[in-house]
Amino acid sequence: MASEALVQAITRQEWMDPVADLLQGAVSGAVEKTGATGQAVADALHGTWLGHPLHPALTDVPVGAWTAAAALDAIAAARNSEAVDQCATGAIAIGLVGALGAAAAGLMDWRHISHQQPRRLGLTHGLLNIGAALLYGTSLIARRRGARGVGRGLAFLGYATAGLSAYLGGHLVFEHHLGVDHATEQKPPQEWTWVMAESDLPEGEPRRVDVGDARILLLRRGDQILAIGEKCTHLGGPLAEGKLEGDSIVCPWHGSRFSLEDGHVINGPAVFPERCIETRVRDGQIEVRAGGRGESCQHHRAQPAPVESEAREMLMTGS
Ligand code: FES
Repeated sequence: MASEALVQAITRQEWMDPVADLLQGAVSGAVEKTGATGQAVADALHGTWLGHPLHPALTDVPVGAWTAAAALDAIAAARNSEAVDQCATGAIAIGLVGALGAAAAGLMDWRHISHQQPRRLGLTHGLLNIGAALLYGTSLIARRRGARGVGRGLAFLGYATAGLSAYLGGHLVFEHHLGVDHATEQKPPQEWTWVMAESDLPEGEPRRVDVGDARILLLRRGDQILAIGEKCTHLGGPLAEGKLEGDSIVCPWHGSRFSLEDGHVINGPAVFPERCIETRVRDGQIEVRAGGRGESCQHHRAQPAPVESEAREMLMTGS
């Protein structure tokens, strides 16, 4: 198929790698240099606040507006209507504003891609979008100068370019699973299931345990045994190898931070929460079962030892 041949051809373009290195380094450098503000902007663009990637939501604005513009252009050409032509011009302008936001969110997501094929496809996707925006921008200029036919022609080329770019964007999601929840196939047990002896879990050291197909992160924190999903929802990184920060864990791959209390995302690039895992201890053995996603759940908390008078009373009453 032509579309498959095109994708194959793009993924063979080695010359893109130094360009991608440079661009990814510049974007990540800018985020790091600006500290908490940069992180907040990055999280806003990733969609951490939304619980869903922002980029695909924003792309609906230019795609929708430019589709409307194409239809309006066709009507304006058929009726030779200046009023409809102006509506098309307005739709193109709205699309350009939306494209700016979509580009910023897409760039922020793309900076974390390290595999060559999706990285090259993502770069091509971005370059095509820039091409489409330039064509639409030139179309606006032509329309302002009264060259409506030229403006429509340029808009048509812009629409075709944006369509090709959208195809590559879809390929990145469906074939390379970018922007999806990488822990969705993790199915922790619904019933209480043994995982390890309590004595084998040291204080303050994250441990990964595998239960069926599910990776679970366990942490003893004082009198509590905390647990969440271990596979990072962003791109599948191993959270058990991450860094502990208070009651949260930082993914070693791209720095997403998850609460160990309930799995919610504290910092992106992840946007999907980890599943909370319930824990309990029976006869010195740790058991787990699935909790909710990003919701607080029951974690084992050791009962404090009874004070002497209480212990005496329990002995006397036999309770
Ligand atoms: S895999 Fe990217 S932050 Fe975890």
